[in-house]
Amino acid sequence: MNNNLQIDTKLIKSALVLAVFSGIASADPMPQEESLSSIEISLIGRNDLYTHQGLNRYAEAPFLTDLVSAGQLPPVGERLPKQPVVFKTDAMVDGVGEYGGVFRHVIGGRPQGWHFLAGQHQGWGGINMAVQECLIRQGPRWQVKAEEQTGPLPNLARSWEWNNDKTELTMHLVEGAKWSDGDPFDVEDIQFWWEDNVENPEVQGILSAGEFGTGTSLEVIDDYTFKFRFTAPQSESLLESLAYNQGCPGPSHVLKEHHPKYNSSKSYEDYRNALPADVVPIPVLGAWVPVLHRPDELVVLRRNPFYWKVDERGNQLPYINEMHFKLTTWDDRTTQAVAGTGDFSNMENPGNYVEALKQSQEPDAPVSVKFGSRNLVWRIELNFAAKLAEDPVDRQLRTLFRDKNFRLALSHALDRNAVGQAVARGPFFYPYTGGFASGSPYYDYGSTEYQPYNPDGARSLLAGLGLSDTDSNGILNLPGGGEDLTLDIIYKTERNEDRKMADAVTSLFADVGIRVLLKPVPEKNFGDIRNRGDFNVLLQRSNFVLPTYRTCEHLPISDSCPGFHLSGAGGRDLLPFETELASLNETIVSTDDPRVSTRAAQQMQKILTENLYVVGLVQAPAALLVNKRIRNVHPGTPVFMYDWAEDGIIRERLWIPREQQITELLPNTIAQY
Ligand code: GLA
Repeated sequence: MNNNLQIDTKLIKSALVLAVFSGIASADPMPQEESLSSIEISLIGRNDLYTHQGLNRYAEAPFLTDLVSAGQLPPVGERLPKQPVVFKTDAMVDGVGEYGGVFRHVIGGRPQGWHFLAGQHQGWGGINMAVQECLIRQGPRWQVKAEEQTGPLPNLARSWEWNNDKTELTMHLVEGAKWSDGDPFDVEDIQFWWEDNVENPEVQGILSAGEFGTGTSLEVIDDYTFKFRFTAPQSESLLESLAYNQGCPGPSHVLKEHHPKYNSSKSYEDYRNALPADVVPIPVLGAWVPVLHRPDELVVLRRNPFYWKVDERGNQLPYINEMHFKLTTWDDRTTQAVAGTGDFSNMENPGNYVEALKQSQEPDAPVSVKFGSRNLVWRIELNFAAKLAEDPVDRQLRTLFRDKNFRLALSHALDRNAVGQAVARGPFFYPYTGGFASGSPYYDYGSTEYQPYNPDGARSLLAGLGLSDTDSNGILNLPGGGEDLTLDIIYKTERNEDRKMADAVTSLFADVGIRVLLKPVPEKNFGDIRNRGDFNVLLQRSNFVLPTYRTCEHLPISDSCPGFHLSGAGGRDLLPFETELASLNETIVSTDDPRVSTRAAQQMQKILTENLYVVGLVQAPAALLVNKRIRNVHPGTPVFMYDWAEDGIIRERLWIPREQQITELLPNTIAQY
């Protein structure tokens, strides 16, 4: 590591004018931001959304009653837990719903497999959230008023309590809930999730050992009660990381026989492939069960007859019988939502915005479009794991990436306005320099360092690092007359906006003597490559809105993260500021005092942006597109706040008036195991 040449950014800041004229790199205040949000929000109390409560009588979708009469399903009262989740009518804008119909999703992802405990994704875009349920719930929290934002909402964990010094947390599970094949859900599933997956280093899950507090252990108390023991006091914030993808148990009654601990004929590779994408159904706790998968075409899910949530009249949820996920492209999600052939889109490709806005203004437009705050960010990640690089040139590059002056030079080489304009003209983009997105409740303008476009400054920083064009081919050579300075940048093939930004970055970097080779990677494999740290440079969209949402993607909180700084046989050297980031994260997850967490988040913002932990590009708002026939879409649902809109919109509570329902592909059926 070479920190000798590090510029004191504060000093430079005060000499700003001089710096601009002399071409020395500098930090600036961020430009003023213009909001595009059209969201009007009426907030409610924390307990106004739903409770866990037993009701006197229950009802169900009519076709399920027929299956009960035919002896193919137990009566609804026996399928529900003692105290189901009860959604309150007053919090539903269109009230109690009508059963039936199809909700049409369109997505660009492809299911990798159904084994989310082993780290497989289901293609994103809301499939994972249709099949998984987690200990706590975050998505609907955007609706809760500020003074009642005391922490995550209950879900599979119906309640919990802390001991006095907050080193022990006892959680109570919903009692008597069942998997979609009728098998009981209980603490055995939790124990399996924790001991044989999260804490098992052989299983590369989405939550890995150490990420839920170093040294945390789990003790089973009884069938529906368990206790986490922490090595230091924690707070409700830590629990936020038990939301989607992370705190979501899998069906132990099916998975155990594939796990090497319980079956010596199986390998961990076998275990990971235990629930392949093309084999359906699988038992789920989610509202819908995958029953059909035509690769690259369609995934169909049917209502889960054992779903453990109801409305206040006792009607078992979901209201909607069938979910479709058309497997096309992310751009097509927006195109189809605008055309009315899809029901939902998180519009997140700014290249589509103007056209979609224009079309949705027509009086008979099938869709409504609502912009939220800027919570989509695009960034470049540089791999810091120099010791893990086998190739000497890679090692040399990664050593360079660890030098702040190199990262500063990259930032100064970026004309962020041009990067944004490469995707879309208009007011959508705002510079991003790392840290929290500007729409995050944790964002602090004053703590955000900005290194504006200054190619001369970039050139002098690069020269100061010993990089010069020794062979006069227009590209800088690595120190000591080494190879051309070439950055292989991986990005997701399917994401048009990423590609356009990557093209813009290529020419901006070329302008300061850095060659870029673009390496598109199919989205399906991208996550694995990133998690393995198998890249030098990566460009992708991200969303650092909450410090507790997939923290591992952003901060060095365990040996297995972030993907751009892994530990391995060679160990890893955390830079001093990374250690500070990890400890600020601990402050945030261990305090219930919002003043303390706000202060820690501000410091985090400062450290992230002044050290360019990632090199930020631009940030943009997204807009939520929902077909007007869908009811109970709460006004103001953001595309992303505490979680994605697929969760924030509470799909189990959505409904479609009978006359607007479209024909189901598999009417009157449920998953057959
Ligand atoms: C993908 C999409 C997002 C959202 C999430 C949900 O990342 O790009 O808009 O749908 O999946 O997991």
